Amino acid sequence: MRERPTVLVTAPLPDDLRDLVAARTDMVATTADALAAPDEALAQRMKEAVGLLTTIRVKIDDDFLDRCPKLKVVSNFAVGFDNVDLEVVQRRQVMICNTPGVLDAAVADIATVMLLCLGRRIFQNDRFVREGSWAKGPAPYSLDIAGKTLGLLGMGRIGRLVAERARAFGLKVAYYKPNRDGEAEAAGLANYLERDALFAESDFLSVHCPLTPKTRGSIGAREFALMKKSAFFVNTARGGIVDEAALIAVLREGRIAGAGLDVMVKEPIPGDHPLCSLPNVILQPHIGSATHETRRAMIELAVRNVLAAVEGRQPEAVVDTAKAA
Ligand code: GLV
Repeated sequence: MRERPTVLVTAPLPDDLRDLVAARTDMVATTADALAAPDEALAQRMKEAVGLLTTIRVKIDDDFLDRCPKLKVVSNFAVGFDNVDLEVVQRRQVMICNTPGVLDAAVADIATVMLLCLGRRIFQNDRFVREGSWAKGPAPYSLDIAGKTLGLLGMGRIGRLVAERARAFGLKVAYYKPNRDGEAEAAGLANYLERDALFAESDFLSVHCPLTPKTRGSIGAREFALMKKSAFFVNTARGGIVDEAALIAVLREGRIAGAGLDVMVKEPIPGDHPLCSLPNVILQPHIGSATHETRRAMIELAVRNVLAAVEGRQPEAVVDTAKAA
């Protein structure tokens, strides 16, 4: 009988998928922390591994691949792949797979909900009632959503769904991305604006681009200074796209109205993180895709990807690392 391929698994597998992977591979269930500091037995398994099914907590770089010299495929349980050094995996010919498509609606929902909650002061009003302030007088007014401008920084699958949802609420939608999306424009989903104009004209600015070496830290003091004092910033993409210190400064000083963040630079953040003390910020624990249905679809796709790759078939979702770099 042909030897089964060794596959390291740090992604959380439901029982039925764990049984499937265990039946078709020599599966090594482990954790990101264990892979970072493996004992002798795990270090040996890492030397044999041809596949890795993982969350983005495992950094894929030269050091990791030196310890997994036979690795052929990394299947991320995520659409993002900012845990991967793209230059390194191209040079070492390691295939990267991800889970595009299946999480778009769930993430678009969270971005849309956050902008609605910010505009209508939902979280402030919740605190207002619980703290007993209502009995002392009416709550401050919030804002109409209809007629405001939503700026989308990035217009991929998720951005498009946010545009659709936003249009149902009567928002005007604009977008910027380096390569114009003629299809989205022709479909009437969003108007194109230059990048600076997008920051300047938006009442809500929502981030929908990937974290890459080019986008890391690309939204900072300069961009926040372009925004209206009344505008809200929403990020459901990756914290690292933003200069977090600059964001905290403009929020603290009221130079923008507020922010809704599902992602931070270093996750998880502790309860005493400066963002947690800002009353004009809504925080979520990186749960854009964390619904039962979506996470199930993601893990199924991630499993199909890794099994296909280690069994010599073409996986459904392979990242074009040259294009992404
Ligand atoms: C979640 O953040 C993902 O990249 O899937």
